[in-house]
Amino acid sequence: MTSTASFGVQAFFDAVTGTVSYVLHDAASREAAVIDPVWDFDVQSGRTSTASAQRIADYLQAEQLTLHWVLETHTHADHLSAAQWLRMQMPSGEVRVAAPVVIGQQITQVQKVFGGIYGMEDCIAPQGADFDCLLSDGDVLALGATRIRALGVPGHTPADLAYAVEAAGAVAAIFVGDTLFMPDVGTARCDFPGGDARALYRSIGRLLAHPPQTTLYVCHDYPPAGRAAAWCSTVAEQRAHNIHVHDGVDEAAFVAMREARDATLAMPQLMLPSVQVNIRAGRLPDADAQGRRFLKLPVDAL
Ligand SMILES: [Fe+2]
Repeated sequence: MTSTASFGVQAFFDAVTGTVSYVLHDAASREAAVIDPVWDFDVQSGRTSTASAQRIADYLQAEQLTLHWVLETHTHADHLSAAQWLRMQMPSGEVRVAAPVVIGQQITQVQKVFGGIYGMEDCIAPQGADFDCLLSDGDVLALGATRIRALGVPGHTPADLAYAVEAAGAVAAIFVGDTLFMPDVGTARCDFPGGDARALYRSIGRLLAHPPQTTLYVCHDYPPAGRAAAWCSTVAEQRAHNIHVHDGVDEAAFVAMREARDATLAMPQLMLPSVQVNIRAGRLPDADAQGRRFLKLPVDAL
């Protein structure tokens, strides 16, 4: 738990996928946002579970927080999103509108590319309407007196957003999405359809232009042997120690490193099940007349 006088952050680490989900709350109003919640999925059996998301729901209830936003930093390729389940979770007895699911405006580009790969053109709502709220760079959401500003950080995907937390008019923390990892792990891959290492370098430069003490919360951790999972660093730590983009690494060197490294990486285990759900804001494919649901497995498409 990280706290300032005005807001708090609680992390939830999913060791299966290396994903870090967060609850951000405004201390005075008890209004909360959940960032990148995980819906557990076992690919061998095809079974889903809400165990990870339940931990977040339990935390909201225990801390008497009301969920105002479910924020996705991007279309995840390594886990299914629990956004749809979580947005319906209310403190017992409470009746109100479900929390909006938020993502970047460029999600429509990601939907177009992957809608073609999956043959899902007819299932995707026009203009990104599977999501409740699409943000552009600079847009601001309110959480009581705390402000959440969207920062466009394309590269890993064209639609990646980071979320900067502003308290008393200054950026105190940023949820960086799939851009930077912990300094000893480096940076996010850029080889999925629509990825761009050059764009990622520029996006990271934008994040690292914030004041040195700014707290950065990563979206994933893949801890090297001997280190416990971690998710919190600062601009100063990243600029000094990030193995891919410390001060002095120029764009050409970064792009060459990133592209060479990406060529060696396998597809994430849950990529094909995840993306078809996540481009529809965490919805499974529609059920057939008998109530059965099926995921698609595109052959030779990636
Ligand atoms: Fe990702």
